[in-house]
Amino acid sequence: MANFVKIFDTTLRDGEQSPGCSMNLAEKLEVASQLERLGVDVMEAGFAIASPGDFASVKSIAKTIKNTTVASLARALTKDIDAAADALKGAKYPRIHTFIATSDIHMEYKLKKSKEEVLATAIEMVKYAKKFCQDVEFSAEDASRSNPAFLYQIFEAVISAGATVINVPDTVGYTSPEEFAALIRGIKENVSNIHKADISVHCHNDLGLAVANSLAAARAGATQIECTINGIGERAGNAALEEIVMNLNTRKDIYGLDTRIFTKEIHRTSKLLSSITGVRVQPNKAIVGENAFAHESGIHQHGMLANKSTYEIMTPESIGLSENKMVLGKHSGRHAFEDKIKSMGYILDKGALTTAFEQFKILADKKKDVTDRDIEVLVCRKMVPIPEAYKLDRFVINSGNTITTTSSMRLLSKTGHILEEVVSSYDGPIDASYKAIDKLVGRKFILEDFVINSVTGGTDAQGEVNVKIRNNDRVYNGYGVSMDIVEASILAYISAINNMLYDQEEKKEV
Ligand code: KIV
Ligand code: ZN
Repeated sequence: MANFVKIFDTTLRDGEQSPGCSMNLAEKLEVASQLERLGVDVMEAGFAIASPGDFASVKSIAKTIKNTTVASLARALTKDIDAAADALKGAKYPRIHTFIATSDIHMEYKLKKSKEEVLATAIEMVKYAKKFCQDVEFSAEDASRSNPAFLYQIFEAVISAGATVINVPDTVGYTSPEEFAALIRGIKENVSNIHKADISVHCHNDLGLAVANSLAAARAGATQIECTINGIGERAGNAALEEIVMNLNTRKDIYGLDTRIFTKEIHRTSKLLSSITGVRVQPNKAIVGENAFAHESGIHQHGMLANKSTYEIMTPESIGLSENKMVLGKHSGRHAFEDKIKSMGYILDKGALTTAFEQFKILADKKKDVTDRDIEVLVCRKMVPIPEAYKLDRFVINSGNTITTTSSMRLLSKTGHILEEVVSSYDGPIDASYKAIDKLVGRKFILEDFVINSVTGGTDAQGEVNVKIRNNDRVYNGYGVSMDIVEASILAYISAINNMLYDQEEKKEV
């Protein structure tokens, strides 16, 4: 019978720390709810002391999530642990995750502490965290470059102090599968009270081995794997959750390990994260890349037609990709639409469903084939709707290669006002429209990033646009989708502004 390995997701902490992946409160809540549906055992919601925004998101996620352990990171400092404990107060299953570096390099140059001081701090801080929370994880930062004997000593001591999980991070992505497995075996053999704690691993991908190292550790006895969706994270990222889970699933014969992950939610979770952050995965990325299940060559297609197992080691359905690509048309009614999105696993409230259905009708009128992917982009961002301070009412663009572009923009504000502005620009319809919106909102934003992609193939494909706007020191994401790419661009910009306003409101309330 297979044993279980726990999946600890750190998309919202280590993942969010990476360039281009920052999320605001509403976005983090949306991801947290999806991680709960995915079935992760633990989600690290943030680093509560890092900023008021981080504190607010840990607090909101802790209050919202009911079936998953919610963790907050804390350095081995009382002020960090106080902030983590405070932010986690509303959690059903809270965990304080405290860490200190244990490698000679880190202790000497970063911490400027002796081994004895690090050991004493670790014990003291685990005991301190235990006053607030039964579930305490202790991480030995840079464990893979630490002296194993010192690791055994510190792990034994923190378990005696009450740690329920000891984490072995490969912080700089330096280790190899054989070496890391040996380290885990060493911990099992040399830490006398190890049976009282979970052994966790946390691997970075600097040498492209994060998943391999995590799997080798699991085979050697690790009982928790820390990872992120799409492998996002510091530098080259963290071990990718979807790759770890599908390896364990597909090769049960060698690993003999199960997870509690509902694999049919993998595709949706990956897409949600990409659409929120605007960071898409490479097409050939294992499991969630656009081409991961595409069989292009004639020989492969022939084999697949004869018997799928010739070239398919796992099914696209197992990660939630449906085989049925052709779906509803313009004559489909609301019930059929509702059934379809339910069968795709989306649960929308009445208002969000009505909006999605209206958008579907408009799309079906214009587009011959409405695919699952088209429907997915209409509904995937409506699961946790945020209040819209501004809504697009209409726009008119006058543009051409020999004239100055004008954009006439009309927005509706949440107070019910109609706001109108006309702006001309030499730089095309998007520049003119964004300037018009800035005028209407009464602020000027810096456009940090603008990415446009087509949802499917064909000239009648929908375009999806991700933008990032900067307001002072913060960056906000926006997302828009439409068959008209100028409209998708406008919607993305307005959504980024709404995200910013929502985030600022939420922070006031914390
Ligand atoms: O990579 C690392 O060492 C970490 C720790 C804080 C767990 O992220
Ligand atoms: Zn890390």
